[in-house]
Amino acid sequence: MRNEIPTKELIWSLPKAELHLHLEGTLEPEMMMQMAKRNNVALGYQSVAELREAYVFADLQSFLDIYYAGCSVLVEEQDFYDLTIAYLERARSQGVCHAEVFFDPQSHTSRGVSFETVVRGIHRALEEYQASFQMSSRLILSFLRHLSEDDALATLEEATPFLGWITAVGLDSSEVGNPPSKFTRVFARARERHLLAVAHAGEEGPPEYIWEALDLLHAARIDHGVRCLGDAALVARLVARQTTLTVCPLSNVKLHVFPTLAGSNFADLIDEGLRVTVNSDDPAYFGGYIGDNFLAVAEAFALDTAQVVQLARNSFLGSFLSEPDKELRLHQLSSVASSISF
Ligand code: ADE
Ligand code: ZN
Repeated sequence: MRNEIPTKELIWSLPKAELHLHLEGTLEPEMMMQMAKRNNVALGYQSVAELREAYVFADLQSFLDIYYAGCSVLVEEQDFYDLTIAYLERARSQGVCHAEVFFDPQSHTSRGVSFETVVRGIHRALEEYQASFQMSSRLILSFLRHLSEDDALATLEEATPFLGWITAVGLDSSEVGNPPSKFTRVFARARERHLLAVAHAGEEGPPEYIWEALDLLHAARIDHGVRCLGDAALVARLVARQTTLTVCPLSNVKLHVFPTLAGSNFADLIDEGLRVTVNSDDPAYFGGYIGDNFLAVAEAFALDTAQVVQLARNSFLGSFLSEPDKELRLHQLSSVASSISF
């Protein structure tokens, strides 16, 4: 395969899965302003430009404050549908053929929007893209870790009539001070209901939180996980089991997990033999969708085509697709990759 950094066109054309994406984090400023107007929600920003100017973050919490304020414009089922369709279209244009997406029901139910309103809008859009474009998807109900475990348990109860549409539970929001151990009971209950588990851990928090996510929550994947390198035994375990890390390179720079992309540990994670995937997290806030993230790491670390194709392979390997469907997607990826001139 070619040794030079692959072009944007090539990177975007590779079939890939997105495994770490918050639907609420795809709310582009233009859509936010439109929805604020149609739902009569006071946003506190007069223009798209003013909104974009506010997207300068010191850390995870300063981002979350703006992210939750933005969520307030999502009110009707149609809003959740429109939001999801807009994401799927962008993702599809950058090569995503399978998307496993988070939604944060508590950021809506706490404002009086029903769980049903949220999940029906999202589900309708996902179904439409499966039917129209064979774009497969999975929905992950993410608990907000700054709230109590009882609140998460109540949310799981509200989800009960819709569990046929939901594949897994996740854990996001303010990490430090809210360890995975706080949510052991609700993840156990989710397991009883045959839901899989993932968890944000090791974004700002220490390696111990990654151990807890694995051992106490039985997380099948670790979202972010970039702080694992501080613990050799943890790295050995993640490598031995080929646990997928859903890394979000542009997010990590925007939230100052690392000073720059070139100064991040992305290449070290790969060199350790970890199963690294590339994802966009909250693309409307962090300056790029999945293809932009792939291109950014390829340029920052001078990745060649074979390395980029391996990252795309990892995205299917780490997905919740059935084994035959994984094989199918890997085959599609190989066909596109082998058509690239050497
Ligand atoms: N919610 C949305 N994006 C998040 C992130 N990067 N970390 C934790 N919670 C989030
Ligand atoms: Zn995230």
